[in-house]
Amino acid sequence: MDTYILGIESSCDETAASVVKNGREILSNVINTQIDFHKKYGGVVPEIASRKHIENIDAVIDEALSAANMSLCDIDAIAVTNGPGLVGALLVGVSAAKAIAYAANKPLVPVHHIRGHITANFLAHKELEPPFVCLVASGGHSHIVNVKDYTDFEILGRTRDDAAGEAFDKIARVLGLGYPGGPLVDKLAQEGNPHAIEFPRVKMDKDSLDFSFSGVKTAVINYIHKAEQKGEEINCADVAASFQNAVTDALCEHTIEGAVAACAKTVALAGGVAANSQLREKMTAMCKKHGISVVYPPPVLCTDNAAMIAAAGYYSYLDGERAGLDLNAVPNLPL
Ligand code: KG4
Ligand code: ZN
Repeated sequence: MDTYILGIESSCDETAASVVKNGREILSNVINTQIDFHKKYGGVVPEIASRKHIENIDAVIDEALSAANMSLCDIDAIAVTNGPGLVGALLVGVSAAKAIAYAANKPLVPVHHIRGHITANFLAHKELEPPFVCLVASGGHSHIVNVKDYTDFEILGRTRDDAAGEAFDKIARVLGLGYPGGPLVDKLAQEGNPHAIEFPRVKMDKDSLDFSFSGVKTAVINYIHKAEQKGEEINCADVAASFQNAVTDALCEHTIEGAVAACAKTVALAGGVAANSQLREKMTAMCKKHGISVVYPPPVLCTDNAAMIAAAGYYSYLDGERAGLDLNAVPNLPL
C-alpha cells in the first residue's frame, strides 16, 4: 500500500508544503520564499519571517494538496519541522500541522530540519540507501553526519562557530553583492583566481572533524579593510574565488576524512551550500581518488523545501514516531 505524507516547513524564510509518495516521489513541492522582504536588511529578520509565514501558510498547504491532486483524506500523516530554526517561524508550521492533524484526525510526525536536508538525497537518487556520510552545509548548520540508517544518524563533526552558508552571506555583504550571498559569491568566483589570496584553513585538532569558519571570514574582512585603507583597488572576483576555495577545501577535506574513517562508499551533500558549484566539483574529484562516489540533490532540493520534510517524515512514520498535540517548536533541537 502506498503512503502519502504532507510535509510542512517554516523554520527560516521559506514557507513550504509538499506531498511525497513513499518517501521517494514528489507529487507537489510548493515553496513561497520571503527573500525579497529580507533582502534590504541583508539577512533574515525573524519577526518579518514569522508574520510572512502566518500570511502564507494556509495558501501554500492548499496549493501543495491541489497540485498533488489530493485532499486531506488521501494523506496518511502530517510531517512538520519542529526544529532547529527561528522559534517564531517554526511555531507557524507546527501550529498549522497540529491544527490539520487534529481536524483531519491524522498522525503528526515531528521532523528535525537537518534530517530533512539529508533526506533530500533520497528524493533525488532513487537508488541511494544508507549507510553513507553526508555533509550538511546551510545558512544555519555545518555538520558531517554518518547516516547509518534512515532514522539513525551520528554526528562526526560540526562547526564550532559560523555555519558555512553564514560565512558566504557575510562575505557577500562586505563585497556588496547582496543577499543571500552564497549563489552570488559562487557566480562571481567563476571569474576569479582561487589561488590569488591564501586565506586560512583551520583544522581544530588532529582527531577532530569540526569546522571553524570565523577565521577565514575575519581574514577576508581584514584583507578588504586593509586594501581600502591603503586606497588599493580590490579584485572582488579574486577575493570571492579565494574565499570559496578556502571554505570548500575545509568542507571537502574534513568530510572525506570522516568518510574514509567510516569506510563509507558514498558521500552525499545537503543544505543550501550543497548548491555551490565548486564544492560539488571538488568533492567529486577528491572522493574519486578514494573510490568514493558523490551524490547531491538539484539546487531546489538543497535549499529549504517541504519535500525533504515529507520524505524524512515518511521514514520516521514507518518507525512509529508520532507527536501529540502538545508538540512544540524547539529552536536548538539536537540531531
Ligand atoms: O538550507 P538553506 O536554504 O537554509 C538553512 O537551513 O540555513 O541554506 C541557505 C544558505 C544561505 O547561507 C545561502 O547563501 C547558501 O545556503 N547557498 C549557497 C549557495 N546557494 C545557497 N552557498 C554557496 N554557494 C551556493 N551556490
Ligand atoms: Zn535548511
